[in-house]
Amino acid sequence: MADVGAENGAAGVPKLLDGKTCVVMGIQNKWSSAYHIAETMAKAGARLALTTVDERAKRDADALLAQHPGGFGYTCNVASDEELDAVGEALRRDVGTVDVLVHAIGYAPRAAMEGDFFSTTRADWDTALDISAYSLVAAAQRIVPLMPPGGSIITLTYLGADRYFPGYNVMGVAKAALEATVRYLAGDLGPKRIRVNAISAGPMKTAAARGIPGFQNMYNTLADSAPLAQPFGQQDVAGATLLLASDLAGAITGETIFVDNGYHAMGMSIPREGAGEG
Ligand SMILES: NC(=O)c1ccc[n+]([C@@H]2O[C@H](COP(=O)([O-])OP(=O)(O)OC[C@H]3O[C@@H](n4cnc5c(N)ncnc54)[C@H](O)[C@@H]3O)[C@@H](O)[C@H]2O)c1
Repeated sequence: MADVGAENGAAGVPKLLDGKTCVVMGIQNKWSSAYHIAETMAKAGARLALTTVDERAKRDADALLAQHPGGFGYTCNVASDEELDAVGEALRRDVGTVDVLVHAIGYAPRAAMEGDFFSTTRADWDTALDISAYSLVAAAQRIVPLMPPGGSIITLTYLGADRYFPGYNVMGVAKAALEATVRYLAGDLGPKRIRVNAISAGPMKTAAARGIPGFQNMYNTLADSAPLAQPFGQQDVAGATLLLASDLAGAITGETIFVDNGYHAMGMSIPREGAGEG
């Protein structure tokens, strides 16, 4: 797997989350965005509560918890209301208060990512939107009752919500639903002073990315044409997530923030050399 430690943002994590408890959902392995986010939050002073889809995915999460004692690990398949209820109950028992919820979960059946979007089946549509978008609502329902004012909820999305990327297919529709979900949750939870935001991340080499046909093309396009000609990786997303989790972002809610070396803002590729000539 590729370099995940883009040097921008990796150095010296400020203690922005001292005394806070952060639930991070979606570690699959040490390349996961969620792993880097959780690690950064722990370095920022947070106590961690990590959820993984199953026992196998829990191995790297447990290793991270061993490095940052005082945290908790649970399994939770977000397709199951019972498992979500159980995590809600366990969090109430083990930590009592949750200040930050990070939702870094996405899934579409492989068949829906192969071929064209036009052929998407009803079943694959339902699965992709359930796991990738509804799960944010379902998780918030269990965790918001544990959140004091000042709480922050963050999810991860992709530019495929706004634009056509061959092979991203129904995930693009699921991400559009997820971004709308962020706005609606922000409206509902704003009066409780709970913020809800999304980070639209550039392509990162993770397990989920491996399931996207054409991912390498998406990855190379950013590397070749984003205005910031610098490495990009999970660490950059972790830094922006830390900002949104912290009180420094206390007036930001209902927002989708792009963290992608500026790729989304460009109408054309940025020439790497000889800009302005000819
Ligand atoms: N990798 C990228 O290029 C990229 C870019 C933008 C956004 N994202 C988003 O970031 C988020 C995290 O993905 P990642 O790239 O770190 O990959 P990842 O594979 O490390 O993480 C995806 C996670 O979703 C979990 N998951 C899938 N189905 C689940 C279920 N039913 N219940 C519970 N968990 C389930 C997986 O177990 C895994 O931990 C996803 O929402 C993804 O769409 C990724």
